[in-house]
Amino acid sequence: MKVLMVCLGNICRSPLAEGILHKKVTARKLPAHVESVGTSNYHVGDNADPRSIEIARKHQVDISKHRGRQFITNDFERFDKIYTMDRANHRNILNQARNESDRSKVELILNVVEPGSNNEVPDPYYSGKDGFEHVYGLLDEACEMIADEIEEYNIQ
Ligand code: 4NP
Repeated sequence: MKVLMVCLGNICRSPLAEGILHKKVTARKLPAHVESVGTSNYHVGDNADPRSIEIARKHQVDISKHRGRQFITNDFERFDKIYTMDRANHRNILNQARNESDRSKVELILNVVEPGSNNEVPDPYYSGKDGFEHVYGLLDEACEMIADEIEEYNIQ
């Protein structure tokens, strides 16, 4: 199972989602590969935001080696599942989909927790530390359920 996490900058939310899910599937010895990207090119090659690195570290998740990357069409081939953080990123990725197979891989990450809700992981870039705490909690809950799904269906 190959999972791609997507946000705008690939420095705040999606690197956190990648680190959290990677830790969970590794702990459960599940055959999964996790990466993250941004829809924008604003932070290509950059480390994760220091506030994301810090909140992850607090929860024993290491995202200090992360480097920003932008989504490319070939990611539809490389990944089985593409989780988007908010509706703008979701639309952006769907607009790049070439067929129904591409489209079927894309899901708003919080719809895993509450199907059909179309809830968003808020962009914490301009928020304070509590914004990052809030985002961490949302992503931890969603990633736990994604790990459950991977385990349940034993998706390779
Ligand atoms: P992210 O947050 O999409 O969660 O990585 C952002 C990071 C940077 C910017 C916007 C959102 N930016 O405009 O540079």
